[in-house]
Amino acid sequence: MSLSRLKSPRLFRQQCYVDGRWIDAGTGKTLDVHNPANGELVGQVPVLEADEIDTAVNAAATAFRHWRSRTAQERADRLMDWHDLMLVHREDLATLMTLEQGKPMGESRGEIDYAASFIRWFAEEARRMYGETIPGARIGQHIVVTRQPVGVCAAITPWNFPAAMITRKVGAALAAGCTMVVKPASATPFSALALAVLAEEAGIPHGVFNVVTGSADTISETLTGNPAVRKLSFTGSTDVGRRLMAQCAEHIQKISLELGGNAPFIVFDDADIGRAVEGAMVCKFRNTGQTCVCANRFLVQSAVHDNFVAALAEAMGKLRVGDGFEEGVTQSALINGDAVEKVVEHFEDALAKGAKRVCGPAPDTDRGNYVQPVLLTDINTDMKLCHEETFGPLAAIMRFDTEEEAIALANATPYGLAAYFYSRDIHRVWRVADALEAGIIGINEGLISNPMAPFGGIKESGLGREGSRHGLNEYTELKYLCMGAQ
Ligand code: SIN
Repeated sequence: MSLSRLKSPRLFRQQCYVDGRWIDAGTGKTLDVHNPANGELVGQVPVLEADEIDTAVNAAATAFRHWRSRTAQERADRLMDWHDLMLVHREDLATLMTLEQGKPMGESRGEIDYAASFIRWFAEEARRMYGETIPGARIGQHIVVTRQPVGVCAAITPWNFPAAMITRKVGAALAAGCTMVVKPASATPFSALALAVLAEEAGIPHGVFNVVTGSADTISETLTGNPAVRKLSFTGSTDVGRRLMAQCAEHIQKISLELGGNAPFIVFDDADIGRAVEGAMVCKFRNTGQTCVCANRFLVQSAVHDNFVAALAEAMGKLRVGDGFEEGVTQSALINGDAVEKVVEHFEDALAKGAKRVCGPAPDTDRGNYVQPVLLTDINTDMKLCHEETFGPLAAIMRFDTEEEAIALANATPYGLAAYFYSRDIHRVWRVADALEAGIIGINEGLISNPMAPFGGIKESGLGREGSRHGLNEYTELKYLCMGAQ
């Protein structure tokens, strides 16, 4: 499978998109992008220097003056054209994604639909950027609150969802009237650049959407060091998020952070075990375990523990590991060798501390970036996998006895992105949903991602929400007009 399969080869760009122009780095420097499935070179993208990134910010600042003054309907129309083009080119976009990220083609197609759904959602929301009126403090006085776009925004996006993590930021930003400079992950820039080709074809004006590539440090320092950038949205690790937050302090830039998770997945003894296993499979093995909302710890009540383990092991036996372009593959190569090492480290640490392997071979680093799914039981809180995201196809199960114990275990983490639980007792459902410390709770549901709901975490999992009407608000400032009596 190669680039020659693209029906529209123009979607594969190896240049940055700045102010409506396709540019190389002035220095000529490039970085290589490899296919994680076989290590082959996919292509190269420019390594821009700080002054070239500032050019993108300046272009976005100029474009902002015009873009913000268009009607919401005009902005929505451009976004809808972009959405439609994404679906027209779904197969090519999915091919590029599997080439650079590895995920199975079925999942890449699903991600293009997911990515386009954010553009559509925010195109629809653009016309609902409502303000409010408030009774005045004095007779004849009126208070009016409007929402205004924050200005030039920057986005730094991850490799695990190379298209959707861009569109859920840029869709909201552009709908609100902001302009944006995006830095895609160095491992997966081609999906972002293909989106830029389609943005241009959709008539999104020059400078409104820009894509820059290169050194993560240079780009993040330049974007946060430029006072024209009024907001940064980042999806990635908590450690990097913490650093970016400190950098944004200098110019008091607004910030949205979607950071690491450590999701518990609780199965109570009154759960429908068949449904719980279905939810566990999608939740744990989507994107080969590489999502920040993947279940990281399964907590299963004693009475149903053995049944759940047996049913999960059976379902896992049907997973097929291989190149994302092969028919029937459900689990792809992980993104790189470091990702494989992390799974191996968690597996070995857990085994040394008393875990039992139920199915799957021991993960090792000799199989390239491939890891066979593995199921462990008898997990305890001394193990690394209870405290760090594994980000791979390792399912780890801990037994518990009481509801209080499950809640305490689930909340024993500085992270609070997603949590899941299965129960058919309505009283328990409300109690546990209230008690879990996470921004997203899946109740008898393993797939919680969609454009209409507010996605985001609490504690060290982040700040702000993406998707939903709240996602639009993240790109607006409130302005209060105090109208005196005549
Ligand atoms: C993520 O892993 O960062 C996002 C996952 C999702 O949108 O479901």
